[in-house]
Amino acid sequence: MFRAMTLPVSEQRTVVEIFVEGRRVVAREGETLAAALLNSDVVPFRYTPVSGKPRAPLCLMGVCFDCLVEVDGAQNVQSCMVRVEAGMQVKIPRGARRAGDVK
Ligand code: FES
Repeated sequence: MFRAMTLPVSEQRTVVEIFVEGRRVVAREGETLAAALLNSDVVPFRYTPVSGKPRAPLCLMGVCFDCLVEVDGAQNVQSCMVRVEAGMQVKIPRGARRAGDVK
């Protein structure tokens, strides 16, 4: 569905790997986590706490909160607002945030 733009060689970024639900995903250093997940066909990003419906990024600018994921144990991270870092461990939230698990 989504495809990364081909950048000129002078602008190409280092390739890093992150892990989504334990699965290895290749990303480009500096891109947003949401972009990396969309480029790797990781959809949905979360399931709502009330209805369990799947959600995916909508605005990609920090407004809609439909891109929430868990990153390195931190819950409800807006994936469109964070940059990819090598070795990130990403989990897809299912249901409500776990109480007492604040990072
Ligand atoms: S996609 Fe809307 S807040 Fe991230």
